[in-house]
Amino acid sequence: MDNKGGLFAVVGMGIQLGSDLTRAAEGYIKNADKVFYLVNIAQAAEWIEQLNSNTESLQDLYFVHKNRLKNYIAIAEHVANNLESGKYTTFVLYGHPGVFAMPSHRAIALAKQKGFRTKMLPGISAEDWLYADLGVDPGVSGCMSFEVTDFLVCQHSYSPFSHLLLWQIGSLGNKYLADTEFPLAKNLEVLTEELLKSYPSNHEIVLYQAALFATEQAKIRRFELAKLAQQDVELIDTLYIPPLDMPKANINQDMIKRLGLADLN
Ligand SMILES: C[S@@+](CC[C@H](N)C(=O)[O-])C[C@H]1O[C@@H](n2cnc3c(N)ncnc32)[C@H](O)[C@@H]1O
Repeated sequence: MDNKGGLFAVVGMGIQLGSDLTRAAEGYIKNADKVFYLVNIAQAAEWIEQLNSNTESLQDLYFVHKNRLKNYIAIAEHVANNLESGKYTTFVLYGHPGVFAMPSHRAIALAKQKGFRTKMLPGISAEDWLYADLGVDPGVSGCMSFEVTDFLVCQHSYSPFSHLLLWQIGSLGNKYLADTEFPLAKNLEVLTEELLKSYPSNHEIVLYQAALFATEQAKIRRFELAKLAQQDVELIDTLYIPPLDMPKANINQDMIKRLGLADLN
């Protein structure tokens, strides 16, 4: 395949405007010949436009089709179709550009097919802020992360003894529709029923929203699992479910011996 000599970079803005932007990402925005962006707040768009005079918002493409999946594909194709040989193009998304961000992965795959060099830079995601604001360490008992509709539909196996993050809770049952009319409260009841198979009804869970500006505080709402469907869930909320205490009976004594850990008791 020809290498057309062009570079296509995908970078993240982070969650908190300005302060989360890495120096590397800023450099990729400033120095690009062209910058595409898909961000969640108008101030982020202004920030990008101040860094580079040749920018294009992809926001309108987000609402072309009723099916959001088609819009994601259209966004990736628009970016890939507008890459110029020998030029340097940057695509900016909010958060980490590769975390729950299908258009960026797809745009990279298309750019590679066209012979462009590609690079994705990590950014600070909502999950990173959640660890910091809620004091959660994924290294203690592990952490599982799912898109919430996918979690229910595919019945993914998970452990209630690990931290559980359910993304896009405000779009539960509406994963790919741009439509805002869908029965969220009813779908939250379905999720509650499923979670009650693993957790007690009074298990404290959290609706979490990282602050978008350094001058604001994170929005942290704690309540009992049984009350999930009564919450006013917003599109940028992530649901965090803390782990249950691991029962002693679940600890595999044979494995402890096989790993030579018995003497550490
Ligand atoms: C399409 S994903 C984008 C995630 C983004 N790329 C990131 O790195 O955080 C949108 C989902 O991310 C989560 N999210 C986005 N912004 C958030 C915030 N400020 N606080 C908590 N969760 C957030 C929510 O679960 C939301 O439904």
